Amino acid sequence: MATVSLDAFLAEIDRLRIDATAALSAAVDAPALEAARVEFLGAKSGRLKSIQKLLGGLAADDRPAGGRHFNELKQAVSDALEGAQQRLADGGESIEPIDVTLPGDPPRLGHLHPITQTIRRVQEIMSRLGFESVDGPEVEDQWHNFEALAIGAEHPARDPLDNFYLAVAQGTDPLLLRSQTSTVQIRVMERRKPPLRIVSLGRVYRPDTADATHYPMFHQVEGLLVEPGTTMAHLKSVLRMFASSFLGGDVHVRFRPSFFPFTEPSVEVDMEWGGRWIEMGGAGMVDPAVLEAVGYDPDSVSGFAFGLGVERIAARRYGVADIRDFYRNDVRFLSQF
Ligand code: PHE
Repeated sequence: MATVSLDAFLAEIDRLRIDATAALSAAVDAPALEAARVEFLGAKSGRLKSIQKLLGGLAADDRPAGGRHFNELKQAVSDALEGAQQRLADGGESIEPIDVTLPGDPPRLGHLHPITQTIRRVQEIMSRLGFESVDGPEVEDQWHNFEALAIGAEHPARDPLDNFYLAVAQGTDPLLLRSQTSTVQIRVMERRKPPLRIVSLGRVYRPDTADATHYPMFHQVEGLLVEPGTTMAHLKSVLRMFASSFLGGDVHVRFRPSFFPFTEPSVEVDMEWGGRWIEMGGAGMVDPAVLEAVGYDPDSVSGFAFGLGVERIAARRYGVADIRDFYRNDVRFLSQF
């Protein structure tokens, strides 16, 4: 009478083959290998020996097949043992003991993007000069981006080719991605009464072709101060204190006459650093028409406003020649800051 089916016997053989090859190839030194040898090939109570005993329980017809499989198994395990002995003799090859006393791999920490760092630094410097940081929306209406800033319907700055207008239902004023942060001057003055000292830093959008000094999205710092008796001298002092603090050393500021619809007079702001003059943005005294548009009395308060390019001042400070590098997401560039 058979007590073991051939299927069950072959299943035992398979399991043992897997266990034995795993144990033998995992052995890292001679004692471990000897332990594995005894477990599987041990003459008295090795696992092969126990399987061999099962052979007698197979039906007489199945015994030749069972015996053949058993012999193959024995050969395979012996070969694996020999392979493992060879491997240890060769110096252990790929399997190395783990040294738990070695220092681990420190996780790589990231940091803020250089433009974000610049924004934070500008906010910090300006806050010491009494300017509060405020935010405004990046999707704007025509009133805040143009009209309240005295940029009339026929002004070339409103050209569809120079702005990212958003498609909206016919008959309504199209919204746009703001082309300047001067929008925030209006939004703040509409809500608050003077005296006012604010800075606003954020993204602006213009459909420019990207090159070393242009990008269709960039950042501006907008500053606005409205108090009785404000003059251009205050504007220049604040810009100079800001520039010296940000760039380090005694940075000179130069005004060149210019025109913006919302300031009068208007100037271009250059900063000198290391012997070179670089244009950083525009500024001027807030036009009385703008003060009126937000309900202020131009006879009792005056103010100045300025707008600087964040990428420009960051490039200046860090010596970056191409502002596109700020947006390439190349960690070899970014990790320098
Ligand atoms: N908004 C202007 C620009 O983007 C800069 C500016 C800001 C000029 C404030 C005057 C006053 O070019």
